[in-house]
Amino acid sequence: MTLIARLMHLQAACQRLAVLLLFGMLLLWHPAYGKTAGVYLVGLGPGDPDLATVKAMRLIEEADIIYSLSKDIRERFAAYLKGKDYRELSESVTRHHARIAKTKAGKAKSVTVSKSDIGRESLVVEVRQAVAQGKQVVFVDSGDPLIFGPWVWMFEEFKDVHLEVVPGISSFNAGLAALKRDGTWASQTHSIILTTDRPQSQDRLEALAAHRCTMAIFTHRTDFAEIIRKLKMHYASETPIAVVFYAGYKDKQSIISGNLDTIESKIKPESLPLEHIIFVGDFLTFHLNEN
Ligand SMILES: C[S@@+](CC[C@H](N)C(=O)[O-])C[C@H]1O[C@@H](n2cnc3c(N)ncnc32)[C@H](O)[C@@H]1O
Repeated sequence: MTLIARLMHLQAACQRLAVLLLFGMLLLWHPAYGKTAGVYLVGLGPGDPDLATVKAMRLIEEADIIYSLSKDIRERFAAYLKGKDYRELSESVTRHHARIAKTKAGKAKSVTVSKSDIGRESLVVEVRQAVAQGKQVVFVDSGDPLIFGPWVWMFEEFKDVHLEVVPGISSFNAGLAALKRDGTWASQTHSIILTTDRPQSQDRLEALAAHRCTMAIFTHRTDFAEIIRKLKMHYASETPIAVVFYAGYKDKQSIISGNLDTIESKIKPESLPLEHIIFVGDFLTFHLNEN
């Protein structure tokens, strides 16, 4: 091969390498690089955004579509949702029926919100289409999405697509942190029951109370007086109890404490917000050196 032919050969090889490099760089710069298309169920913690995990925040940043059931999340995470395709679902998706898709656009705190009034079946079709197009679809929820969350249906509907759950700090974790108490350290017990007051279920509150261990009661707008009445069926009246309001919110978090006999005189049931959680058990007054 002559020198000229060798040089031409080298030039062609260099050109091919340059094209490959350019292609590789474009791939790295593409927003979808490193993303795995699929459905992500992400817990954002119960209060201020700094209680969300690094992974949760990364998924919000990367998401192509974000679905939420709560206006509260839009307000708390407004700074991070700006510019995102953020869709607020109606409660109907947690029920099993289909409705005609309707979308309304609204603006709140500079986050553009699409109010998505679609039923479960239409939502599933919409999400599947997005995933098939290579998108990351993120469902965000307060606290941990798998503690009294409305998402059980998701594991059936999306069992054949990439589905990941990112755990979040639950309000019971934030509540214990607010109380500065370890729920597993009490005089006689080392267990925590996470429950709510559902009279129809087999594990009724009064049946669980018989264990007299630590209980964290998720309230879900239940009747405060009724909860105290049921607890008193097994716990002694002097058992300590604490209600934590807005656990995890730096500026709003508060605690009202007492015992089962005194707590009702300190609480106005009509002014209880959704965000309150009840803790009962002698872990609330337990001291290592006394035991
Ligand atoms: C539908 S459940 C959702 C729980 C959520 N998945 C979690 O892990 O915290 C709603 C209940 O959780 C409790 N809750 C949620 N956020 C709270 C907060 N910031 N402070 C106190 N309780 C809270 C209340 O008892 C409320 O009624």
